[in-house]
Amino acid sequence: MECRVFGTRTQAERELAVEVAELVRVRPDAVLGLATGNTPTGLYRELARMHRDEGLDFASVRTFNLDEYCGLTPDHPRAFRRWMREHFFDPAGIPAANTGFPDVGENVGAPGASDRIDPCADFERAIRDAGGIDLLVLGIGRNGHVAFNEPGSERASRTRRVELHPWTRADAAAAFGGLDRVPTHAITMGIATILEARRLRVLAFGPEKRALVARTLAATADPDWPASQLHGHPDLRLLVDRSAAG
Ligand code: PGA
Repeated sequence: MECRVFGTRTQAERELAVEVAELVRVRPDAVLGLATGNTPTGLYRELARMHRDEGLDFASVRTFNLDEYCGLTPDHPRAFRRWMREHFFDPAGIPAANTGFPDVGENVGAPGASDRIDPCADFERAIRDAGGIDLLVLGIGRNGHVAFNEPGSERASRTRRVELHPWTRADAAAAFGGLDRVPTHAITMGIATILEARRLRVLAFGPEKRALVARTLAATADPDWPASQLHGHPDLRLLVDRSAAG
């Protein structure tokens, strides 16, 4: 895993934004894999600025988000679909029709749910039909999760319904206005799905990510530290600021 250390978070965000912009200029219908959360906000802000000030055209770009909570309507204030629209798709001019999310119909993947339609397989098929993901942006969670691949996730895992780890739910409690309002399940791309992206770019900023970065770099393919399962990808880069590098 290549690790690049930047003096500031803004520099790292700028570097990745320039890489994404170059990809989109060469390939206007590039396929991006996208994360939500605090970590990628500056990247999306910079890309939206490039769209506004420099005419960077995202109209033909296709996107697939890493994950979505189960049990929320698409317009729920905490739904990732809505978050992405507000933080990136609308300000960057990405048409809703070009954006892909796992279908989180209430019973998706639940025991006993109808297996006539499998939205997780549909999501994987949609990624394949788009030609695969060119560049995928990731953050690292407090328990080492990537997307919602919580500890215990296998390297061979694919898009599926998962139970959220207590720390993941606790971290979301304030945003939802209480732990009891945080969904218990989500649909996430699997580690194998993520590893099929042609470029992986992992972001980590701030002192609270320092131990996570160290463990990610040191561990090898440890299911209890899902981020370590990214090792071995042929084009994997970790972009961190100085405080996360320690
Ligand atoms: P954060 O979350 O970007 O809000 O720190 C990272 C993650 O849980 O993947």
